[in-house]
Amino acid sequence: MRIYFKRQFLQLGHFPRKKCLIILLFGISLSLISLFYLLQWNIICLNAEIDMHLNLLCHEYHQGKAHGNLCRPICETGDVSVLSCQSMHKGKVAVFTAEWNGTIVVIKSHREKSDYMPLYWTDNSNLIFPNYEELVEMISQSLKLNFGVYLDDAISTLFPFFETESEKTVDLMTNLWQLSQDNEYVMLMTNQHSKMFPKILSTCGTFYAVEYAKPIPVHLKTDRNLRILHSKQILELLMKLASFQDPIHICDVKLEHFGLIGDHMVVIDVDTVFPRSVVERSTSDGRKCKQHQDCYLFDCQSLCNEITERCDKNLINNNLQLICEKIFLNSGLLLSGDLPGSQQFLIEKCAISGDPGTEAYYAKELLSYFNEYLRVSHF
Ligand SMILES: Nc1ncnc2c1ncn2[C@@H]1O[C@H](COP(=O)(O)OP(=O)(O)OP(=O)(O)O)[C@@H](O)[C@H]1O
Ligand SMILES: [Mg+2]
Repeated sequence: MRIYFKRQFLQLGHFPRKKCLIILLFGISLSLISLFYLLQWNIICLNAEIDMHLNLLCHEYHQGKAHGNLCRPICETGDVSVLSCQSMHKGKVAVFTAEWNGTIVVIKSHREKSDYMPLYWTDNSNLIFPNYEELVEMISQSLKLNFGVYLDDAISTLFPFFETESEKTVDLMTNLWQLSQDNEYVMLMTNQHSKMFPKILSTCGTFYAVEYAKPIPVHLKTDRNLRILHSKQILELLMKLASFQDPIHICDVKLEHFGLIGDHMVVIDVDTVFPRSVVERSTSDGRKCKQHQDCYLFDCQSLCNEITERCDKNLINNNLQLICEKIFLNSGLLLSGDLPGSQQFLIEKCAISGDPGTEAYYAKELLSYFNEYLRVSHF
């Protein structure tokens, strides 16, 4: 044994320097590459990145390019201070928590500025900008077409955070045009008082501050009563979404996309929350398909018709099916030990049944069980 160790030692001692250097360089490059991807995929995030976004935003504000009454507290008075960046997300370019006059808010921006559709069009390589009346019409049409949102007065509903008297410069109009392309911003503003989503508090450029929603606690120690209460609150939220003439679908269902404001459950990631008519334009519009995935809009799915090879079938799932599958079962909000066999069976059936005819039945059965459970446990 001793001899073996000696030999190893001797070998290491004579390990060529060049090889050592190569291994060292290889290790460093590997760490840098890993760090790059950890940052790129937002598995970790750096507050420095948020500072970079805000420096750019404030630069634009001082040049008169970013508008909205969140700009002053961020860029001049210092009333907004960054708390922490949010990791583990990849949809939006920036998401971070901040403190604003003693309240925690979340500030978000959807895309890099260059990724928004430009306001101008070209004619013989001349840039043509719309006038303000044309912009209002462009926004109304774009809301209808892209998000299924019909508003009598789109401007005052969507943009209450701008000085109404301000001159309608190209920069201001560009700002309005960019925000009107952000589905989350539009959905939140058109449902400001619905208690289904956090309220938007203010905007600056393409950044907006929203109410902070507490995450749903899911770990083994979480009290069973609390988990049943949160499950009930989710069902109540789904009923509100279903009550619209054009029911609203959540197409990216994850536990982290829900949160609590007071005793209301809200959806906090609204990038892919759309009225059914808009969902069906992606899933069932008769487009060509080779496989079922060609007819999916994230979690909202229909099937590729094998005969016609087109996405011409109805949706095969709904909000409740996704909640039963991805939240109650997969995320473990409802552990099997929490429920009597009959309710467990109901949730398992609900998790595989996307038939629209059964949604109301499962919702009613589950809700009455949760209500009864909470009543008996005096929670
Ligand atoms: N209003 C809010 N209150 C509390 N936390 C929030 C709020 N909005 C977002 N978050 C947190 O920040 C995370 C990222 O936000 P969000 O989901 O909007 O970003 P995203 O880039 O669209 O994410 P994804 O890649 O999941 O689509 C959320 O999962 C949640 O943890
Ligand atoms: Mg998202």
